[in-house]
Amino acid sequence: MSEPLPLVRLKNAWNSTHPWIFQRLVEKPAQRPKPGSIVDVVGVDGVWIGRGFYNGHSRIALRMLENDPDVAVDAGWFVRKIGEAVRLRREFLKLDAIGNAWRVVHSEGDGLSGLVVDRYDDLVVVGFFSAGMYRHREWIFNALREHFPGCRFHSFADEHVQKQESFDYKDTLGTEPAIISEHGIRFRADPAGAHKTGFFADQRENREWLSRMCSGQRVLDLCCNTGGFGVYAAVRGAEEVVGIDIDPAVLEIARGNAKLNGLHGKAMPRFIQADIFPWLRDAQANGERFDVVILDPAKMTRDREQVIPALKKYLDMNKAALGVVKPGGLFATFSCTGLVSEEQFTDMLRRAAFYAGRTVQVLKVAGAGPDHPWLAQVPESRYLKAVFCRVLD
Ligand SMILES: C[S@@+](CC[C@H](N)C(=O)[O-])C[C@H]1O[C@@H](n2cnc3c(N)ncnc32)[C@H](O)[C@@H]1O
Repeated sequence: MSEPLPLVRLKNAWNSTHPWIFQRLVEKPAQRPKPGSIVDVVGVDGVWIGRGFYNGHSRIALRMLENDPDVAVDAGWFVRKIGEAVRLRREFLKLDAIGNAWRVVHSEGDGLSGLVVDRYDDLVVVGFFSAGMYRHREWIFNALREHFPGCRFHSFADEHVQKQESFDYKDTLGTEPAIISEHGIRFRADPAGAHKTGFFADQRENREWLSRMCSGQRVLDLCCNTGGFGVYAAVRGAEEVVGIDIDPAVLEIARGNAKLNGLHGKAMPRFIQADIFPWLRDAQANGERFDVVILDPAKMTRDREQVIPALKKYLDMNKAALGVVKPGGLFATFSCTGLVSEEQFTDMLRRAAFYAGRTVQVLKVAGAGPDHPWLAQVPESRYLKAVFCRVLD
């Protein structure tokens, strides 16, 4: 290795395989490396532990990347590491056969703490969730260019991440959308017009599974965003699809997505701008009932102190949604709040069923697609919970 890296020493014994090491365990170096610098880490006994990003401003002071002392974390390291992630999707999971929209890098799940990359056809969307990834962005863009020749980039960093990790980044502006296809269904992925990555690739397998149950059915897609579940259901022969979302901008894209798939006339989903709470109250009162109801709300919180109120909100919306499912109908309910565990979510569903006076038979519990992997020792990167059930009575 050319230049020796700054050295960071731990205060206590360390034998975990989790890539994060918190500030309280790390000695403050006399000369503080800039947030996101690559450092060598030694234990309290001075023995080399690994190499990673240091950030003296963040609660997560170290994000470990490499544990082979002979391997430098440099531009070539990023090409190889991102290459491994691409191979998992292309060669192992064979995602090219399913579509051209998938998560390329899922942060810790791919050994790249703080980096999220999605690809939508030729558009590669890069999210920086750590100062280290932001600091080394040119290496990352170059590595991605090698794996996706001729690609376009859109990049972003959430404001709360910039604050926590202490860096400033202006998202790309004016990105042109990409048209993607998955399981033969087409969507416009528009990072400038909708959700910041442009499309929710995580629900791909859940959309596919559920849509196979929708032929001839009356389907309600609550929090439909750009129409993911609703458009699938309509393409697969649903008799009627109603999609509800509070955000008018995503509904415009949803209507476009329906047209992209040749849906028109009776087959065209009806996308309605509304808050699901009053909408469901009215629908329930008017006796509206659906064979299939999907409920996929936005993330409720990233604050541990707010998990109880988040569960209360899930309870209220699930109870209200259960009220419009026909007896014998299908209910698909999701949570993308990472801090809410699968156990807490299914327990919430038990309570929602109780208060709604319905018997819920769970058919399948799932999560995000396999292009969103998580390491067994890093359960924090698992966020999406999916529960498919029948409402018996
Ligand atoms: C996770 S996204 C849904 C993704 C979608 N199912 C898909 O597959 O593309 C959550 C959506 O919930 C919507 N939303 C959040 N609160 C809402 C509310 N009270 N009423 C209606 N929509 C809401 C947001 O605007 C956002 O589009």
